[in-house]
Amino acid sequence: MTVQDFFKMLITEIHSVVVATVDKNGLPLTRVIDMMLYDENCIYFLTAKGKNFYKQLQEKPYISLSGMTYGTNTMEKKAITITGTVRVAETDKLSEIFIKNPYMAEIYKTNESREALEVFCIYRGQGEFFDLSTKPITRISFSFGGAEDLKTGFIINENCTGCGACIKRCPQECIVPGKKYSINEQNCLHCGNCYEDCSFNAITKL
Ligand SMILES: Cc1cc2nc3c(=O)[nH]c(=O)nc-3n(C[C@H](O)[C@H](O)[C@H](O)COP(=O)(O)O)c2cc1C
Repeated sequence: MTVQDFFKMLITEIHSVVVATVDKNGLPLTRVIDMMLYDENCIYFLTAKGKNFYKQLQEKPYISLSGMTYGTNTMEKKAITITGTVRVAETDKLSEIFIKNPYMAEIYKTNESREALEVFCIYRGQGEFFDLSTKPITRISFSFGGAEDLKTGFIINENCTGCGACIKRCPQECIVPGKKYSINEQNCLHCGNCYEDCSFNAITKL
Protein backbone atom coordinates (compact mmCIF):
# COMPACT_ATOMS: atom_id res chain seq x y z
CA MET A 1 0.00 0.00 0.00
CA THR A 2 1.21 3.54 -0.78
CA VAL A 3 1.07 6.74 1.28
CA GLN A 4 -1.80 7.86 -0.97
CA ASP A 5 -3.75 4.71 -0.02
CA PHE A 6 -3.33 5.63 3.66
CA PHE A 7 -4.38 9.25 3.03
CA LYS A 8 -7.45 8.02 1.14
CA MET A 9 -8.45 5.62 3.92
CA LEU A 10 -8.00 8.38 6.52
CA ILE A 11 -10.23 10.86 4.69
CA THR A 12 -12.89 8.62 3.11
CA GLU A 13 -13.23 5.67 5.50
CA ILE A 14 -12.07 6.94 8.89
CA HIS A 15 -12.68 10.69 8.55
CA SER A 16 -13.17 11.60 12.27
CA VAL A 17 -10.00 11.11 14.30
CA VAL A 18 -8.65 11.98 17.72
CA VAL A 19 -5.99 14.68 17.46
CA ALA A 20 -3.47 15.45 20.19
CA THR A 21 -1.57 18.67 20.66
CA VAL A 22 0.54 19.92 23.56
CA ASP A 23 -0.46 22.92 25.66
CA LYS A 24 1.85 25.67 26.85
CA ASN A 25 2.91 23.52 29.83
CA GLY A 26 3.85 20.64 27.55
CA LEU A 27 0.82 18.57 28.57
CA PRO A 28 -1.19 16.57 26.03
CA LEU A 29 -4.72 17.53 24.97
CA THR A 30 -6.99 15.62 22.60
CA ARG A 31 -10.19 16.28 20.68
CA VAL A 32 -12.09 14.85 17.70
CA ILE A 33 -11.34 16.51 14.35
CA ASP A 34 -12.42 15.58 10.81
CA MET A 35 -9.81 14.93 8.15
CA MET A 36 -11.41 16.67 5.18
CA LEU A 37 -9.20 16.43 2.09
CA TYR A 38 -5.94 15.04 0.82
CA ASP A 39 -3.68 15.54 -2.15
CA GLU A 40 -0.29 14.17 -3.15
CA ASN A 41 1.53 15.93 -0.34
CA CYS A 42 -0.86 16.91 2.43
CA ILE A 43 -3.85 16.09 4.60
CA TYR A 44 -6.23 19.00 5.28
CA PHE A 45 -8.44 19.77 8.27
CA LEU A 46 -10.05 22.89 9.63
CA THR A 47 -10.85 24.52 12.90
CA ALA A 48 -12.28 27.80 14.18
CA LYS A 49 -10.02 30.62 15.28
CA GLY A 50 -11.68 30.89 18.71
CA LYS A 51 -10.88 27.30 19.72
CA ASN A 52 -8.08 26.26 22.06
CA PHE A 53 -7.04 23.79 19.36
CA TYR A 54 -6.36 26.70 16.98
CA LYS A 55 -4.34 28.53 19.63
CA GLN A 56 -2.22 25.44 20.31
CA LEU A 57 -1.52 24.91 16.60
CA GLN A 58 -0.39 28.53 16.34
CA GLU A 59 1.96 28.10 19.29
CA LYS A 60 3.29 24.62 18.50
CA PRO A 61 2.44 23.32 15.01
CA TYR A 62 2.74 19.63 15.84
CA ILE A 63 0.00 17.05 16.10
CA SER A 64 -0.44 13.37 16.64
CA LEU A 65 -3.64 11.70 15.45
CA SER A 66 -5.23 8.27 15.55
CA GLY A 67 -8.39 7.02 13.94
CA MET A 68 -9.93 3.72 12.94
CA THR A 69 -12.36 2.25 10.46
CA TYR A 70 -15.80 1.17 11.62
CA GLY A 71 -16.42 -2.47 12.40
CA THR A 72 -18.72 -4.55 14.55
CA ASN A 73 -15.80 -5.75 16.66
CA THR A 74 -12.12 -5.07 17.26
CA MET A 75 -10.96 -7.86 14.94
CA GLU A 76 -12.56 -6.09 11.96
CA LYS A 77 -10.86 -2.75 12.52
CA LYS A 78 -7.96 -0.92 10.87
CA ALA A 79 -6.24 2.09 12.41
CA ILE A 80 -4.03 4.87 11.12
CA THR A 81 -1.76 6.95 13.34
CA ILE A 82 0.16 10.00 12.10
CA THR A 83 2.52 12.31 13.93
CA GLY A 84 3.41 15.40 11.97
CA THR A 85 3.90 19.10 11.41
CA VAL A 86 1.16 21.46 10.25
CA ARG A 87 0.89 24.85 8.60
CA VAL A 88 -1.96 27.09 7.50
CA ALA A 89 -3.15 26.00 4.05
CA GLU A 90 -3.91 28.12 0.97
CA THR A 91 -7.26 30.00 1.22
CA ASP A 92 -8.91 28.14 -1.72
CA LYS A 93 -8.90 24.93 0.35
CA LEU A 94 -11.85 26.15 2.46
CA SER A 95 -14.29 26.15 -0.46
CA GLU A 96 -12.98 22.78 -1.64
CA ILE A 97 -13.62 21.38 1.84
CA PHE A 98 -17.22 22.62 1.76
CA ILE A 99 -17.76 21.08 -1.70
CA LYS A 100 -16.31 17.68 -0.76
CA ASN A 101 -17.89 17.63 2.74
CA PRO A 102 -21.46 18.96 2.26
CA TYR A 103 -22.37 18.33 5.93
CA MET A 104 -20.13 21.30 6.84
CA ALA A 105 -22.79 23.65 5.39
CA GLU A 106 -25.17 22.43 8.10
CA ILE A 107 -22.76 23.63 10.77
CA TYR A 108 -21.47 26.81 9.13
CA LYS A 109 -24.48 27.93 7.05
CA THR A 110 -23.38 31.34 5.76
CA ASN A 111 -20.22 32.65 4.12
CA GLU A 112 -19.98 35.15 6.98
CA SER A 113 -19.95 32.38 9.59
CA ARG A 114 -17.17 30.59 7.66
CA GLU A 115 -14.85 33.50 8.28
CA ALA A 116 -14.09 31.94 11.67
CA LEU A 117 -12.50 28.95 9.95
CA GLU A 118 -8.88 28.27 9.14
CA VAL A 119 -7.65 25.33 7.10
CA PHE A 120 -4.46 23.58 8.14
CA CYS A 121 -2.44 20.97 6.31
CA ILE A 122 -0.25 18.22 7.68
CA TYR A 123 2.68 18.51 5.28
CA ARG A 124 5.32 16.32 6.91
CA GLY A 125 4.78 13.27 9.04
CA GLN A 126 5.40 9.69 10.05
CA GLY A 127 2.61 7.20 10.29
CA GLU A 128 1.60 3.66 10.92
CA PHE A 129 -1.20 1.54 9.52
CA PHE A 130 -2.33 -1.26 11.85
CA ASP A 131 -4.84 -3.83 10.62
CA LEU A 132 -6.35 -6.38 13.00
CA SER A 133 -8.60 -7.87 10.31
CA THR A 134 -5.78 -9.85 8.66
CA LYS A 135 -4.24 -13.04 10.01
CA PRO A 136 -1.50 -12.46 11.07
CA ILE A 137 -2.01 -8.77 11.81
CA THR A 138 -0.61 -6.21 9.37
CA ARG A 139 1.36 -3.12 10.37
CA ILE A 140 3.05 -0.79 7.88
CA SER A 141 5.11 2.31 8.63
CA PHE A 142 5.07 5.22 6.21
CA SER A 143 6.27 8.80 5.97
CA PHE A 144 5.71 11.85 3.79
CA GLY A 145 7.01 15.36 3.18
CA GLY A 146 10.62 14.34 3.81
CA ALA A 147 10.11 12.83 7.28
CA GLU A 148 11.97 9.63 8.06
CA ASP A 149 10.08 6.35 8.34
CA LEU A 150 9.38 5.27 11.92
CA LYS A 151 11.80 2.52 12.88
CA THR A 152 10.21 0.48 15.65
CA GLY A 153 10.04 -3.16 16.62
CA PHE A 154 12.79 -5.77 16.70
CA ILE A 155 15.45 -7.25 14.40
CA ILE A 156 17.41 -10.49 14.65
CA ASN A 157 21.17 -10.00 14.56
CA GLU A 158 24.23 -12.15 13.75
CA ASN A 159 24.19 -13.84 17.20
CA CYS A 160 21.23 -15.97 16.06
CA THR A 161 21.97 -19.70 16.29
CA GLY A 162 18.67 -20.79 14.79
CA CYS A 163 17.60 -22.51 18.02
CA GLY A 164 13.95 -21.71 17.32
CA ALA A 165 12.96 -20.60 20.85
CA CYS A 166 11.56 -17.32 19.54
CA ILE A 167 9.24 -19.04 17.07
CA LYS A 168 7.44 -20.87 19.87
CA ARG A 169 6.80 -17.61 21.74
CA CYS A 170 5.71 -15.44 18.82
CA PRO A 171 1.91 -14.93 18.97
CA GLN A 172 1.67 -13.92 15.29
CA GLU A 173 4.00 -16.43 13.62
CA CYS A 174 6.01 -13.60 12.09
CA ILE A 175 9.48 -15.13 12.65
CA VAL A 176 10.93 -16.67 9.51
CA PRO A 177 13.36 -19.61 10.01
CA GLY A 178 16.63 -19.77 8.09
CA LYS A 179 20.36 -19.97 8.76
CA LYS A 180 19.78 -16.71 10.58
CA TYR A 181 16.14 -16.17 11.55
CA SER A 182 14.38 -12.95 10.57
CA ILE A 183 11.26 -11.06 11.65
CA ASN A 184 8.56 -10.24 9.18
CA GLU A 185 8.04 -6.71 10.48
CA GLN A 186 4.76 -6.20 8.64
CA ASN A 187 3.17 -8.87 10.83
CA CYS A 188 4.89 -8.12 14.14
CA LEU A 189 2.87 -6.99 17.19
CA HIS A 190 6.01 -5.66 18.96
CA CYS A 191 5.04 -7.75 21.98
CA GLY A 192 8.72 -8.27 22.87
CA ASN A 193 8.47 -12.00 23.68
CA CYS A 194 11.29 -12.95 21.29
CA TYR A 195 13.54 -10.20 22.63
CA GLU A 196 12.92 -11.02 26.29
CA ASP A 197 13.53 -14.74 25.91
CA CYS A 198 16.48 -15.01 23.50
CA SER A 199 19.39 -16.71 25.30
CA PHE A 200 21.92 -15.45 22.73
CA ASN A 201 21.15 -11.69 22.77
CA ALA A 202 20.35 -12.14 19.11
CA ILE A 203 17.36 -9.78 19.05
CA THR A 204 17.74 -5.99 19.05
CA LYS A 205 15.02 -3.52 19.91
CA LEU A 206 14.95 -0.64 17.39
C1 LIG B 1 -17.44 13.81 14.92
C2 LIG B 1 -16.85 15.15 15.29
C3 LIG B 1 -16.07 15.82 14.35
C4 LIG B 1 -15.52 17.07 14.66
N1 LIG B 1 -14.76 17.69 13.73
C5 LIG B 1 -14.23 18.91 14.03
C6 LIG B 1 -13.42 19.58 13.07
O1 LIG B 1 -13.16 19.11 11.96
N2 LIG B 1 -12.89 20.79 13.42
C7 LIG B 1 -13.13 21.37 14.64
O2 LIG B 1 -12.62 22.46 14.92
N3 LIG B 1 -13.92 20.76 15.57
C8 LIG B 1 -14.46 19.54 15.28
N4 LIG B 1 -15.23 18.90 16.21
C9 LIG B 1 -15.48 19.58 17.49
C10 LIG B 1 -14.27 19.51 18.40
O3 LIG B 1 -14.01 18.16 18.77
C11 LIG B 1 -14.51 20.37 19.66
O4 LIG B 1 -14.81 21.69 19.28
C12 LIG B 1 -13.34 20.40 20.58
O5 LIG B 1 -13.82 20.88 21.80
C13 LIG B 1 -12.25 21.34 20.13
O6 LIG B 1 -11.09 21.12 20.92
P1 LIG B 1 -10.48 22.25 21.87
O7 LIG B 1 -11.46 22.40 22.98
O8 LIG B 1 -9.15 21.72 22.25
O9 LIG B 1 -10.39 23.51 21.04
C14 LIG B 1 -15.77 17.66 15.92
C15 LIG B 1 -16.55 16.97 16.85
C16 LIG B 1 -17.07 15.74 16.54
C17 LIG B 1 -17.91 15.02 17.57
